[in-house]
Amino acid sequence: MWNSKFTALLFGFFSLPLTLTTLCAKEGMYQPSKIKSREAEMKRMGLKIPVEQLYNENGTGLNNAVVLFGGGCTGEFVSPQGLIFTNHHCAYSYGQSLSTKEQNYLENGFFAKSRAEELPCPGLTVQVVRKLEDVTGYITSNLADTLPEAERNRIIKERIENLTRAYHRNQHTEVDIRPFYEGNEYWATIKETYKDVRMVIFPPDGIGKFGADTDNWMWPRESGDFAVLRVYADANNNPADYHPDNKPYRPVKYFPINISGVKEGDFTMVYGFPGRTTQYLSSFQVDQVQHIIDPIRIQARTIKLDIWDKYMRNDKDIFLKYASKQASVANGWKKWQGEVLGLQQNNVIRIKEQQEERFMAQVANSPDAGDRFLLTGLEANVKGSNRHVAAIEYSREAILGIEAIQASAVFNNILGLFRTDASQAQVTDSLQKIKKSLAGFYKNYLPHVDQTVFEGLIPYYMQQNDYVVAPQMKYLYSVYGRDAHKWSNSVYNNSLITSSQRMYDFLDKATKADSFAILGDPAYKLYYEVTSYVKNDITPRLTVNSDKINVLNRQYVRAQMKYNPARKPLYPDANSTLRIAYGNVAPIAQKEGNFFLTTLDMKIPRHNPEVDEFRIPQRLTDLYNRKDFGRWQQNNTVPVNFIATNHTTGGNSGSPVLNGKGELIGINFDRIWQGTMSDIYFDEGFCRNIAVDVRYVLFIIEKYGQAGWLLKEMKLNK
Ligand code: ARG
Ligand code: GLU
Repeated sequence: MWNSKFTALLFGFFSLPLTLTTLCAKEGMYQPSKIKSREAEMKRMGLKIPVEQLYNENGTGLNNAVVLFGGGCTGEFVSPQGLIFTNHHCAYSYGQSLSTKEQNYLENGFFAKSRAEELPCPGLTVQVVRKLEDVTGYITSNLADTLPEAERNRIIKERIENLTRAYHRNQHTEVDIRPFYEGNEYWATIKETYKDVRMVIFPPDGIGKFGADTDNWMWPRESGDFAVLRVYADANNNPADYHPDNKPYRPVKYFPINISGVKEGDFTMVYGFPGRTTQYLSSFQVDQVQHIIDPIRIQARTIKLDIWDKYMRNDKDIFLKYASKQASVANGWKKWQGEVLGLQQNNVIRIKEQQEERFMAQVANSPDAGDRFLLTGLEANVKGSNRHVAAIEYSREAILGIEAIQASAVFNNILGLFRTDASQAQVTDSLQKIKKSLAGFYKNYLPHVDQTVFEGLIPYYMQQNDYVVAPQMKYLYSVYGRDAHKWSNSVYNNSLITSSQRMYDFLDKATKADSFAILGDPAYKLYYEVTSYVKNDITPRLTVNSDKINVLNRQYVRAQMKYNPARKPLYPDANSTLRIAYGNVAPIAQKEGNFFLTTLDMKIPRHNPEVDEFRIPQRLTDLYNRKDFGRWQQNNTVPVNFIATNHTTGGNSGSPVLNGKGELIGINFDRIWQGTMSDIYFDEGFCRNIAVDVRYVLFIIEKYGQAGWLLKEMKLNK
């Protein structure tokens, strides 16, 4: 994966002179409740509808058509009967769970022929935001900055709990109260949760995951990264647990689909749930991300992914078990590489330093002495936190990155249970519940694969500096003669956790007298030593710094708002709440060319039967060869993906990409390599979001999947 060809490709991008075309990228992910302040600019750029149609206080806005999918992605209603679009990668773990060796949906896809064939996805929920309310006044009143951070947090937590209780209207409604602008504002999101969600269409990997890790985070792209699901509700259209009698949910709003296609410069919006950005960091914090956090994560994951990769490529069974977790580990691994390169190439630390110099000049004569020392305080505390942050990253990625060690967390629960005064009957009952909850882990776990990862990651961890490595780990390593293989044999042959058989036997029979079996377990021992070291020796030291950093961050954002109204932060960092971003369809100059749209023509020649991610399903090739494109053809081919200048991040996957009329033109799924730094620093010259063209989605549904019955539910506009 991390091979020389790939490296050459990465650096190649950056050595190209970039011819910047007319760019109208607009940094920002705005709260729908504040979108009015952006209306003039959005109209100038091409918005055709009043912003009140996007969101309004009466509850009739298009926010009702956007869903938080599975807790981490976005999706959108596209029919009056509860159909939603999201990404293939967002539905991937459900596609994997529904698959067996005989009925392998990852390889062959799944296309329901009727409603009766739609497949329940246990555990999957979608949430719809009904209302957003500013609760800053209540949450932050009478809280002086001199209050110790722990005390402040306690009061805020209490107020959030009180308010949450007051908001609670009925069993389907949930409120979620979160800080914005580093705690300078608080907002409540009122939402409803739907629990009966069924798979309708899940394209095969050769379409939905085409290019996989090789193409991930890159442009050009030819991925059909979409899936179709349906939300069900009870007879009164209210949220309900799965039941065969449930009816398709009738949403308050759904998106009509515009099938006329996109042109360069077209106005676009992305409406969704961006997860986390850190736009207002100081130069010292960017330095920490770029030189400490990202590199540790990349190195540790390179070791693990190389090992998984070898196993997965040689064995279909292993592939099926590891596909979903591999995708998520690899996704961050690759993004951080793009982020580090982007931060370097654009010298973001220097840009931040210049902002800080300007800030210092502005506050030089401020009567508020505190403002003059903000940055000095940040610098001291961030630098002071560097080694603690590093130690935590190493333990998290290198030790908890080993599946058996991570899973050993369950022993803490069992020990806790043994220490209570529960009766044996209660203990047995709880142990059976734990057994059930472990089934999901064992279903996709192979000890021999994990053992190889152990042998790769342990030496990596042990070679780090003295402060990083838990003292007891040094001791244990010497007991095994500094031989990771010897150590791993003892763990994987003897631990309970590394064998479902041993673990289940233990859980079936254990009594409160069995604590010793756990305390002597070799995987638990490792888990215990590393997590206790972090908890007792590192976290308390980190907290000394991070409490101060939190206060200073909050004050720094507030001071920027105060001294520099022209450059004040216009939008809060992403925090998994509903946001609107807007921009234009725009090409990007790269060595492959300067274009904004890819087509089926560009995908078909990339077929390679030898390489999983480039194996194109025969049926798609046949359609292509027959030019059987139906009404989805344009210039004798089918559009596949396009890029635009919307500011997006993780969590925006599956978000509706809308035109100026609020019609669906695409499904967001990624960003381009040069722009992954946009979580920290957005530059309109480099940043693009990538969407699946909705015409490709409809082509795959109708022509490839023969599921045209679904199109009849949708509203297709020209
Ligand atoms: N990079 C996209 C996102 O952040 C797509 C990830 C799924 N694909 C993959 N190969 N892991 O989620
Ligand atoms: N693929 C990402 C996700 O799962 C979206 C891409 C991004 O980070 O912008 O949310």
